[in-house]
Amino acid sequence: MSLSPRVIAFLLAGLISASTVAFLTFVEGVTNNMLFVVGVSSLIVSFFLILYAIEFLVFREVNKMYKTIHKLRIRDFTISRKSIIKNNNPFKKLNDEIFVYVARKQKEIEELRRLEQFRREFLADVSHELKTPVFAAQGFIHTLIDGAVDDEKVRDKFLAKAAKSLDGLDALVKDLVALSQLETGEIKMNLESVDLYHVTLEVFEQLEKITHSRNITLKIRSDQPGSIWVKADPQRITQVMTNLIENAVKYGNEAGKVTVSFEEEKKHYTVQIRDDGPGIPPEHLSRIFERFYRVDKSRSKERGGTGLGLAIVKHILNAHKSKITVMSKIDRGTTFSFKLEKAE
Ligand SMILES: Nc1ncnc2c1ncn2[C@@H]1O[C@H](COP(=O)(O)OP(=O)(O)OP(=O)(O)O)[C@@H](O)[C@H]1O
Ligand SMILES: [Mg+2]
Repeated sequence: MSLSPRVIAFLLAGLISASTVAFLTFVEGVTNNMLFVVGVSSLIVSFFLILYAIEFLVFREVNKMYKTIHKLRIRDFTISRKSIIKNNNPFKKLNDEIFVYVARKQKEIEELRRLEQFRREFLADVSHELKTPVFAAQGFIHTLIDGAVDDEKVRDKFLAKAAKSLDGLDALVKDLVALSQLETGEIKMNLESVDLYHVTLEVFEQLEKITHSRNITLKIRSDQPGSIWVKADPQRITQVMTNLIENAVKYGNEAGKVTVSFEEEKKHYTVQIRDDGPGIPPEHLSRIFERFYRVDKSRSKERGGTGLGLAIVKHILNAHKSKITVMSKIDRGTTFSFKLEKAE
């Protein structure tokens, strides 16, 4: 329980007046009337003096603290001087506020530490990913210079391999540039009416080679076949569809089925890309949208992935004021879905 200054002053004043009266009773010749007057007057005078002393001291100390806080320019310290002074127990109030403030700062520091760790890992990942194709191309070219160039068959093979490594490097750098531009908000979305049905068919066509080689069936499911008009950046949304469908084809089962479905709502279309592949273990689900994150590093790498695809997809959809979600069940398959605004 916290006592207010008034209660404290009253209790102390009562004590003073009671002891004064008690002493006076031992003095000869003091009448009851005199005792009463002394009792009452000492009670009143002590009450006001003590109250004044408490308030004066508290006020002075609180003011000092308040000035210190101001000097430190603690901007997000929300407390006002008035609210402290008016409070019954200003020190407790100040203490509580400082506690909240420190807790908030602690959280901020943790977040900064996390970002710092993230930045360090990112740098390590980038250097690692860049190193692989550069070393490979370098190796082929040096072998050629060292004499392999004379053998026509070896020459062509090595040149093709060096070119492939450099193409991979080019794709990686392009992805990195796109990602950093998306993150800094440098790329503005060019919103137009886009027929997502048509985009999907185009992506199917582009992926024909890999789909065929893995014997995968591609399907579109839609209430109104023909066209699905949404408000989107044509180039960017094609990139989103390409990565999601490509992932479903790459990481799904051989001879599996990949379905793209469109569901009409009042103002939106819900787009889903589903496969019946091995699925993604739940402990990885929250992380697959991070840059360079791959569930099965060796397996996805052999399929040419760098782990940037979903990070780019997430950013592009965010820039469309949309959000991508994923649902996956082991051995049953994975579904990615997002909403896009209908075009008028
Ligand atoms: N449909 C899916 N089924 C199973 N795993 C998936 C699926 N889609 C993505 N993944 C997992 O998520 C990881 C991240 O995917 P993401 O598209 O970001 O990268 P990537 O495909 O490896 O490389 P990139 O897209 O840059 O070529 C993949 O490596 C894969 O392990
Ligand atoms: Mg991908």
